[in-house]
Amino acid sequence: MNAAGADSGTPPFRLGVLVSGSGSNLQSIIDKLHNGPANIGIAVVVSDNNKAKGLMRAAEAGIPTAVFSMIDFDDRVEHDRAMAAELKRHEVDLVVLAGYMLLVTPGLLDSFPYKVINLHPALLPAFPGASPIEDTMDYGARITGVTVHFVDEGADTGPIILQEAVEIKYNDTVESLRGRIHEVEHRILPRAIELIASGRVRFDEENPRRVIVDEDRP
Ligand code: GRF
Repeated sequence: MNAAGADSGTPPFRLGVLVSGSGSNLQSIIDKLHNGPANIGIAVVVSDNNKAKGLMRAAEAGIPTAVFSMIDFDDRVEHDRAMAAELKRHEVDLVVLAGYMLLVTPGLLDSFPYKVINLHPALLPAFPGASPIEDTMDYGARITGVTVHFVDEGADTGPIILQEAVEIKYNDTVESLRGRIHEVEHRILPRAIELIASGRVRFDEENPRRVIVDEDRP
């Protein structure tokens, strides 16, 4: 049996998951993909916050963890280089930012070109930044949603892989809306990972900003 739990003889597709807080999205990856039939395994969970609940979730699932606190580094690029070295040590194929609250720099991206994805609780390019759910409600938008996208050097600007809409109800609070957004996140982040791992995500050769997903291919 290999690290992803499959017995096919094919090496598993290895994930490095970065978390800063609760890690409910990490949990959805553990529950839906880790050691499952898709031959995907989480090789390591990394956090910038040694109190992140996500680290406990990883430990409970027997997944190695590592903490890189900003306070131990002179700058963000150096911090990200150290993190990239740890992810390389675990032979990670794809880096998943699942509630990772720091902007990533070339210190990480140069080691994993087009191999870092992020989850954002709004329909990008609307409402980027650190408080998209509050911003969406304050703006009075009626529709929001979830975006999974490749990460580039900008803040929430990389090519979009999957999106799904969520309606905002008139009686929604930030917390009730966050709950419905989480339900969608827990579904579409594992789905995006599965699509990438099975080679069904590619860039349009004429416009690399456009991601093409061959959803129907087995
Ligand atoms: C998610 O809503 C994600 O979109 C955002 O941070 C939140 C993390 O939630 N980037 P959790 O830690 O996975 O519960």
